Amino acid sequence: MHNILSGRNVILGVSGGIAAYKAAELARLLVRAGADVHCVMTAAAREFIGPLTLQTLTKNPVAISLFNLWDEREIGHISLAERADLCIIAPATANCIGKIALGIADDMLSTVVMATRAPLLIAPAMNVNMWNNPAVQENIRTLQGRGVHIIDPECGELACGAEGTGRLADNEAIFERAAALLCPQDYSGVKVLLTAGPTREFLDPARFLSNPSSGKMGYCLARALQWRGAEVTLVSGPVALQPPRGVAHIAVASAREMAAAVEQHYEQARLIIKAAAVADYRPRVQLPRKQKKQAGPLTVELERNPDILAGLGARKGSRVLVGFAAETDDIITHAKKKLTEKNLDMIIANDINRPDAGFESDTNQVCILTAGSEPEHLPCMSKDLLAHAILDRIQKLLH
Ligand code: PMT
Repeated sequence: MHNILSGRNVILGVSGGIAAYKAAELARLLVRAGADVHCVMTAAAREFIGPLTLQTLTKNPVAISLFNLWDEREIGHISLAERADLCIIAPATANCIGKIALGIADDMLSTVVMATRAPLLIAPAMNVNMWNNPAVQENIRTLQGRGVHIIDPECGELACGAEGTGRLADNEAIFERAAALLCPQDYSGVKVLLTAGPTREFLDPARFLSNPSSGKMGYCLARALQWRGAEVTLVSGPVALQPPRGVAHIAVASAREMAAAVEQHYEQARLIIKAAAVADYRPRVQLPRKQKKQAGPLTVELERNPDILAGLGARKGSRVLVGFAAETDDIITHAKKKLTEKNLDMIIANDINRPDAGFESDTNQVCILTAGSEPEHLPCMSKDLLAHAILDRIQKLLH
């Protein structure tokens, strides 16, 4: 299956510090996302981690020497540099940062960096006093001034035993920044309000009505939007997922709580996407104490929850409003009805009968409907990829 970074060529430069061992995990994250990863190691890095580890994980030869006769038959450092869509250095030592800032190219890594026109992402890692050294700080500012992306080191216990700033940033954080650098920034500055997950409608403190939404579809959209430069507010029902970094997250439980949170952020939003599965009904009475078992059946009276999306559609203004429809039958007919009745610009219908679509699965198969166009059936794909496919189509509505 295609993956989110499929076909993207990434150079992963590794310089010599104890954090070099973490480069293996970063390489794995990039490869798993589909990137074609080419590692370049300094001599010092090879004191901490063997090239074979990175070569095995990336299935590509690791570049270690400028003077390798075989690689240099086609001027290896130049072809590596030219093919790259992104160059990451993680970890970057004070020495490596200094060389790049001063324009020194005396080994494979610094030469590839000098020769590439791809964006450069540097993740420094070093002792706290080295990090705070004015020379290092000045080099960092110089690089930032040239458009190099720096992912700041974290504060914590360092390998040398000291406490302070200098630990390599979390691999997930480096991966997220890298992915964002590989995405088009076509949502830059767009304020997006997004809902995800289920709602819970409590009968008493121990019981609620809900649905199987895991939040995966909505969280994939949040991440894709964040990577593409949007300012995202994610209103989420209870799910087991971590909100993506950089996304403003508001946790809610019931449909009425979701409605209130949406209301607060609606005015500022340019785009609203409602991927949440909102309960249409709630128990008319919510008991303050646990209901005791009784002989015979129990009847619970339900009352309607507000239809949040329909309420937004009624006062849409110039906003773009996108809904989802979870359907079991007559999918297109029902979705079309919701598109019109809720005054939406787009609705994404998923068939929740399929085991590989809708609730909880990692994949989804949808049909996209917009007013005045033929329904577009998309093939089954990962929710990650689908999120980008949906954003590609919403982009046309924003302009
Ligand atoms: O979270 P996952 O496990 O990844 O599953 C994804 C999903 C199946 C939940 C998602 O893809 C999806 O289809 N979400 C919408 C589910 C739904 O509630 O559909 P609906 O047909 O009942 O509602 C239509 C639209 O109106 C939805 O955008 C919904 O958010 C909105 N709505 C519905 C009821 C209500 N009271 N208020 C609303 O705003």
